[in-house]
Amino acid sequence: MFSAIAVVGILASCTPQPAVVKGSKMNTVETLALGKTVYENSCAKCHDLPNPTDHSAQDWVGLMNSMAPKAKLNDQQHEMVYDYIVSVKK
Ligand code: HEC
Repeated sequence: MFSAIAVVGILASCTPQPAVVKGSKMNTVETLALGKTVYENSCAKCHDLPNPTDHSAQDWVGLMNSMAPKAKLNDQQHEMVYDYIVSVKK
């Protein structure tokens, strides 16, 4: 009984928080971490995980435009992954 309630509580606490406002340009530590997670989970399916520093921020715009649909990212994930990639650059 108690364990069932606890599981529900954990699941509820894991549901995405509305902290990431769509269209928001704010890069928080959380959105960059999310972008990194999406990147690592979505971008190594068809090829090795690309090295973010192999391409310029400008090149990544075009690369992400062609790769985000392949990885079936929504607009928000597309943006978070891009923001993560360019944040890696020195
Ligand atoms: C459904 C398969 C698939 C997925 C998922 C995918 N890619 Fe690709 N990717 C490819 C293919 C095929 C190529 C090479 C042909 C081309 O450029 O279209 C490629 C090429 C690339 C290149 C160019 C490599 C170079 O040196 O020129 C980069 C960078 C890249 N992908 C990044 C990504 C990123 C970032 C993601 C995640 C958002 C991603 N890919 C997800 C299939 C995929």
